[in-house]
This record gives sequence, C-alpha cells and structure tokens, in this order.
Amino acid sequence: MNYRHAYHAGNFADVFKHAALALLLQHLQKKDKGFCVIDTHAGIGRYDLSSFEASKTLEWQNGVAAVMHAAETPILAPWRKVVAALNPNGGYRFYPGSPLVARHFLRPQDRLIVAELHPQDRRVLSHLFEGDKQVLVRPADGYATLIKQIPPFERRGVALIDPPFERTDEWEVLIEVLAEAHAKWSTGTYVVWYPVKDLTEVARFHDVLASLAIPKTLIAEFHIGPAAPESFFGCGLAVINPPWQWDEELQALGDALAVALNRPQAKTIVEWLVPESA
Ligand SMILES: C[S@@+](CC[C@H](N)C(=O)[O-])C[C@H]1O[C@@H](n2cnc3c(N)ncnc32)[C@H](O)[C@@H]1O
Repeated sequence: MNYRHAYHAGNFADVFKHAALALLLQHLQKKDKGFCVIDTHAGIGRYDLSSFEASKTLEWQNGVAAVMHAAETPILAPWRKVVAALNPNGGYRFYPGSPLVARHFLRPQDRLIVAELHPQDRRVLSHLFEGDKQVLVRPADGYATLIKQIPPFERRGVALIDPPFERTDEWEVLIEVLAEAHAKWSTGTYVVWYPVKDLTEVARFHDVLASLAIPKTLIAEFHIGPAAPESFFGCGLAVINPPWQWDEELQALGDALAVALNRPQAKTIVEWLVPESA
C-alpha cells in the first residue's frame, strides 16, 4: 500500500468528488428518516495543505485554492461551506476529505461508517472520530466492510467507493463488488470514483458496468483538459440510484468548476449507462 492521499488532497478531482458528495447529501437530508453513509476508502479525513506531502505536489493549487478564490456559485456553495467550517479563521489550509464532508451533513438520526486499511492512516482517522457516536471507524478492507454493513438498518443512504487504483485488478473488483452490493441492497446509492487517464480503459469499464443492467446507472466525468497520453486529465463518478436531478446538478457542477479553475478547455460529460426503465 504505497498510495497516500495526502499528496493529492484538494486537487481538481477531489473538489469534483467532494462537491458532488455535498450535493448528494443535501438530497438525502430532504427526508427526515435517517440515512447511512458508508465510505469504503476513507483516507485520513482531514488534510493539512501546509504539510510536506501537500507541498511536494502543490496539486491543491489547481483545486481547492483556485475555487476558494473564485466568485461564489450556488452549485459549489454546499461544499465551500464544509471547507469554511473546517477553517473558522478563514482560508483553506485544512482540507476536508470525504469522511468530514459526510460528517458535516449528518443530522442526529444519521450515521457514517468509514473503512481505511493503511495502518498509519487508519490510526489518524480513528483519532479524528474518537468519541463520536455517529461514526464507526473500521480498520478493515473497504469492500468487505461494505458487503458486511449492507443493507444498513436505515435502508437509506450512500456508499462512496474511492479506491487508490493501485491494484491492477481494481476495475474488475469494482464491478464484482457493485454487483454483489446491489444484490444485497438494491435501493442504496452507490458512487464510485475513478481516474480518467486512458479513455480505452474507461470505455471498457463503462461497457462492463452497463452490462450489469442495473437500472439508473449514471456516469459523470470532469476532464480538466484534452486527453493526453500518460496524464491524469480527468476523473469520473459512476453512480447507481442517483437522487432525482442529481445528473443535472453534476453537469452544472462540472461547468462551474471549469470556470472557477479557469480551464476553458475543460469538459463535463454526464450520461446514463442504464436508464431507469431498462
Ligand atoms: C483515494 S484515497 C481516499 C480518499 C478519500 N475517500 C477522500 O475523498 O478524502 C484511497 C484510500 O484507500 C485506502 N485503501 C487502499 N486499499 C484499501 C482497502 N482495500 N480498503 C480500505 N482502504 C483502502 C488508502 O490507504 C487510501 O487512504
């Protein structure tokens, strides 16, 4: 396990994922009944952008920094509020990872389950949520945790699956896990983050995901620039059971992000792989 998210926290792909998650959680808040968020690959939850790791890559400059300096837009506002809440004195030195984005939107009746396998990172994560009765930290494999914890007793909620793509079979594992998870909890919302580096690889993933024929399967990609060999030029979210109109919000989110990052060549692609009536 070599991947450390601290080198990448707050980059454009993190902002797209976390801003999308904030919008999704706002949808879940529309009903009083409690919901459960399962974050299978949680990271450390809170990132100090002045750290050695973040300073080495400076990826956050083309992400959170640019967006926080840009004009406010309603679609980015829910996520910006999470960043602001973690930095009460202003700025964005402390960057909220997915567990803290999720925690921000929990009401007393909601729960968060986070899994992290890296020995050092899971200690930091456990410390972050020490004494928090609404959060269960599992120092375990995220995929196994997901299958074990579903369906949650609330029957409503979201699983965020955000692996580091270190293992060569990650795409295949994702498909297997989604099929198994959906068979156990068909009404849950599933959100898988994936990198866009190789369009052939991504197209294959879309094809196999579509072949599962799970109704309401959506993809939303944000490409920061044109495709270039060996470069990480975009990211995507594969979603099962998105809330109503979240597809339109994701399009608006990508468009707003392109403006905030000052990337006229950026593009957002939102497509139904399997529509509701399939
Ligand atoms: C992309 S990072 C997660 C970032 C986080 N979701 C966020 O948005 O703030 C992936 C994380 O998964 C962890 N990881 C790798 N394999 C894992 C596994 N099998 N189960 C749980 N966590 C794993 C890594 O240590 C790393 O912290």
